[in-house]
Amino acid sequence: MSRRTKIIAIANQKGGVGKTTTVVNLAAALSARRRTVLVVDLDPQAHATLGLGLEKTVGGSMYPVLLGDKPIADVIQPTKWNNLNVIPSEVDLAGAELDFGMREDRLVMIREALAPVKESGAFDYILLDCPPSLGIVMTSSLVAADGVLIPIQAEFLAMDGLALITSSINRIRAGANPSLELNGIVFTMVNAQAKLAQDVMEEVRKHFTDRVYETLIPRNVRVSEAPSTGTPVVFLDPRSRGAEAYKAFAWEFMAKNPTRYDIPSPAAASAAATAPAEANAAEASASAPAASTPVSDATAQTPSSAEPPVLTQAQKDA
Ligand SMILES: Nc1ncnc2c1ncn2[C@@H]1O[C@H](COP(=O)(O)OP(=O)(O)O)[C@@H](O)[C@H]1O
Ligand SMILES: [Mg+2]
Repeated sequence: MSRRTKIIAIANQKGGVGKTTTVVNLAAALSARRRTVLVVDLDPQAHATLGLGLEKTVGGSMYPVLLGDKPIADVIQPTKWNNLNVIPSEVDLAGAELDFGMREDRLVMIREALAPVKESGAFDYILLDCPPSLGIVMTSSLVAADGVLIPIQAEFLAMDGLALITSSINRIRAGANPSLELNGIVFTMVNAQAKLAQDVMEEVRKHFTDRVYETLIPRNVRVSEAPSTGTPVVFLDPRSRGAEAYKAFAWEFMAKNPTRYDIPSPAAASAAATAPAEANAAEASASAPAASTPVSDATAQTPSSAEPPVLTQAQKDA
């Protein structure tokens, strides 16, 4: 089977909607299912970096790569967990709008920076954690992406926020990235009891139909406690409601976004959606990675030997 890397931008111009939490825990849950994942932290606040147990790294972010000062292979860091890697953020990224805003290649800069990694086939998924604005970093991320995943809260004016970002998506589709897909919308911090939340979710589903993920991420205190420990809640407290929701979400995500290990079939997809726990064992054994892949056999909860991700020397030199 050919190697395919999916680049997914996790974006919403609004802050505090659960983008970073979704990136960190989706990445963790995918890595636990032996998908190789690279998280690219593009927010100068570096919450994804910290949430995955790494520090902000001066000179170790996408910033010098975008400036052409460093090959991307030099800034990819392993985490404590198998299959889970990150390009950390640093404060310099806060200057990206000013530093890169006038560049002629600003729209394609992230796509071009990621190209050698995508072509290496080392990762199943590259998840881009976007900053909360419609600026150049988010736009350039959407140009680089195969799909955009939008976390939203089911609250007043949610549809207005969605209209803003979908109009950005449409503009990018009309220009620099015609194949950009609305990968999906995922509801975060859901309070299932609230009538308003129910109404908003219904309205969003009416407009976006099958683009809306079934899995709802509940508001859960364990989710909000995890970042300060540097461990995703999926690993920190796997039985918590938040972790279970993110694991179920990852199954739904994989079914929608098959990569090299997946044999897409409606039966597998519905099994994944309805019975994630039971499906785990069968799926894991049915999808043993090929010998040539960089995937380790150990389960994700086991700390990895911190091997760097696989890029060939030729790619590093490129
Ligand atoms: N499901 C959840 N339950 C409880 N708290 C959450 C949940 N998701 C996110 N949070 C908290 O909400 C805040 C904003 O989330 P974050 O993922 O950083 O949003 P964004 O990246 O969109 O700014 C963080 O403090 C985070 O810990
Ligand atoms: Mg964030």
